[in-house]
Amino acid sequence: MSVYEERTRECQRRLRERGASGVVLFPSPNLSYLAGFGEEPGERHLLLFVPAEGDPAFVAPELYADQLREATWVEDLRLWTDVEDPLPLLAETARDLGLDEGELLVDPTMWARFTQDLREAVPDATWGLADAVLGPLRVRKDDAELDALRRAAEVADAAMRDVRDLGADAVGRTETDLARFVEERLVAHGGDGTSFETIVGSGPNGAKPHHHCSDREVRPGDPVVLDFGTRVDGYPSDQTRTVVFEGDPPAGFESVHDVVREAQQAAVDAVEPGVPAEDVDAAAREVIEDAGYGDEFVHRTGHGVGLEVHEEPYVVGGNDRPLEPGMVFSVEPGVYLEGEFGVRVEDLVVVTEDGGERLNHTDRGWRV
Ligand code: GLY
Ligand code: MN
Ligand code: MN
Repeated sequence: MSVYEERTRECQRRLRERGASGVVLFPSPNLSYLAGFGEEPGERHLLLFVPAEGDPAFVAPELYADQLREATWVEDLRLWTDVEDPLPLLAETARDLGLDEGELLVDPTMWARFTQDLREAVPDATWGLADAVLGPLRVRKDDAELDALRRAAEVADAAMRDVRDLGADAVGRTETDLARFVEERLVAHGGDGTSFETIVGSGPNGAKPHHHCSDREVRPGDPVVLDFGTRVDGYPSDQTRTVVFEGDPPAGFESVHDVVREAQQAAVDAVEPGVPAEDVDAAAREVIEDAGYGDEFVHRTGHGVGLEVHEEPYVVGGNDRPLEPGMVFSVEPGVYLEGEFGVRVEDLVVVTEDGGERLNHTDRGWRV
């Protein structure tokens, strides 16, 4: 049995436990996770129906027939052509699979036009979100997923070493130019594109946590926040370092950098199975608050990482979900001084049987 079929069978077990009739997925990380088939969302009806019992079925445009046969273990393909109305096929498939009543869980990212069509095709169903059964499954990574995440982290580490090697040559280059350099190095080390828009925030731009990049040139003494990632086998990296390429940093920078590093270490040290996710956030926040920068740490400490670069578990106050072995998330405290500079240090961490292990290992210091 393939890993995808195993996941689907586990999903079905959870559906039965919940008393739901099935799941309907749309091109999304959930679909890749169960079917092994990834595609960009599009305007055509491409839906996977997974009943609580029995075999799943795709309703798909005929033009995908070969791709689906090659990529997925799902054998029941119900194809429609561009000149047909797919709605009757949706209704027929739901009926055949026993999904025409009871609770149907739909992909949370499904476009509204498809959920509307489903409502029309299956008028007697009640509705919920697929995360209810797929979230707890996806949150614990298996060995193959961990291997991909480790390799993606290694690629990010290697690219960061190349960035440090630029040294004084980075001065005078624009943030955009440095971002393109990072992206080129990620691919050179074996990554597949970027996992999110690369952030290069120099000087005061570093104080905007989600600044992307601009034509501002790096100046001597500028702190530069570099936050980037790539994908390996579909799984992302996400790493941040804050460095000064040449010259003396602004007053106060060094101590802020020390505080952020201490906060990050405290949060990593707090990672252990059974510990509520919010305690990891609190461990970082306490260090930053004690140093007097609590109001300048304007975001959560981290987010889970898997097929999506932001997913459960969120490392945030109010999330009392206990950590479990196999969870992977970022630990990325930051301090942002508006108009001056920002500092963020980010690594991915996997929860092990007795603690936490960083996936990123490059130098976290600010001197290149
Ligand atoms: N770049 C966004 C993040 O680190 O989550
Ligand atoms: Mn990041
Ligand atoms: Mn992150």
